[in-house]
Formats: sequence, C-alpha cells, structure tokens
Amino acid sequence: MQADITELKKKAAAHAVGLIASGMVVGLGHGSTAIHAVRFLAERLKSGEIKNVLCIPCSLQVEEEALQSGMPLTTFEKHPLMDITIDGADEVDIELNLIKGGGGALLREKIVAQASRRVVIVLDESKCSPFLGKQRHLPVEIVPFGWNTHVFFLESLGAKIRIRRNADKSLYHTDQGNLIADCNFNEILNPRELAAKIKTHAGVVEHGLFLDLATDVVIAGAGGVRHLKRDRPAPASRGDIE
Ligand code: 5RP
Repeated sequence: MQADITELKKKAAAHAVGLIASGMVVGLGHGSTAIHAVRFLAERLKSGEIKNVLCIPCSLQVEEEALQSGMPLTTFEKHPLMDITIDGADEVDIELNLIKGGGGALLREKIVAQASRRVVIVLDESKCSPFLGKQRHLPVEIVPFGWNTHVFFLESLGAKIRIRRNADKSLYHTDQGNLIADCNFNEILNPRELAAKIKTHAGVVEHGLFLDLATDVVIAGAGGVRHLKRDRPAPASRGDIE
C-alpha cells in the first residue's frame, strides 16, 4: 500500500514538473511528494531539457535537497514573484482548498504560494475529502511565548489540540523556531470563517488553511492522473528586481 502511494505521489510530481519551462523561477514545496518534484526537476535540468531555472525552497530541508541536486537557488530579494510553485498538501476539498502543514513548513509554504503566479499542488487521491478537516487535523503555527494561552484560544474555537512533538517527545520547532498546534476541528464546514477567526489572536503566526491559493491540483489515482485548474488573481508585485 505504501509503495502504491509512493508511486502515485511520483506520478503527480512528474506531471507537475512537466509544466516548468526554461527561464522560470520556481518555488519548491516541502514534504515527500514535493521532494519527488525536486528530484524530477533536477533530472530535467541535468539532461539539458530545460535551462536557466532558479528556485526558492520552502524549508531548510528542501533547500538542502536542492543544493545536493545541484539546483540553482535564488532569493525573494532578487525574485519577489515566482512563475510556478509545486507543493504537496495533506487534504484537498472539492473547491481545491487545502490543509497543509503536516510537514511543519506551512508558513514558508504560504509565503511562497502567495508570491507565485501558479501554485500546482501534487497529491495522491487518498487526500481528497468533501470537507477539510475530515481526514487531517489543522496545523496552526504559534509563537512559544504564551503558548498555553494560544492553545486556550484555539480550544475556544472548538478544537481539540495536540502540540506537535518530535519522536523523542521534545517539542517540535518550525524553521522559524515556533510551535505547531495540531487542531482537530472535525469537518470544517466554513473554512473562511474559521481562518478569519484564527488570525484574530496575537501569538498565532499562520494556519494551514490554504484557501483560494492553488491554481492547479494534480491528483494521481488508480485511474491515472487528473489535472484540475482554477483561476486566481495574480499576486501583487512591483516587478522583479535584477
Ligand atoms: C508540509 C506540507 C506537505 O506538503 C504535506 O504535509 C504533504 O506531505 P507529503 O507529500 O509527504 O504527503 O504541507 O508542511
């Protein structure tokens, strides 16, 4: 079963990497599916099939992977706007909204997605749900200062909370040094309302609801690869600074 899921993740990632053309600035997502995309992209660059691609990774782990694969990196200072980002997700609903953050990189992932003209989400079909929250808890990144009060706040919105820990039971810290509260809201019937409420609390850095951000969702399943698309306004930009 695990092998099947890995194959499906690879199929979705390979399809998405086919959308990258020479000269593009590419956001590299975090997680096992996104890592397959990094490796496929590295192969396309090595073979000379595409050239002059520059990448911005969503996490320190992906940055390391990209450097090891010899991928040329750039920065937001040089390229505040990206052509395309390829990233995974934990759950997707019928409106192509997402829960992300299973790998803990939700803040950087959202920053990169908001700065990308095209956001291509790659996943296997087991992650499709009629409502977000049905399969996965919602990760919320919170600052360590006063974290108990942030937990009380999230509980007041109806969630059962688990603070994320490492395998050795120590607290898990994000690349920014923050904590993750994994929030069980059950089915989230009104994700927009919940997203707005969560953001009212000082100490909440970001949540894993990615609403209206994906432009493309590539779903690999037993019947093949489905590519769903949706229009989204382009991110605001003053243009790339060279
Ligand atoms: C990381 C994420 C990942 O994209 C998400 O957890 C999916 O991971 P995987 O591809 O390993 O199933 O949001 O913060």
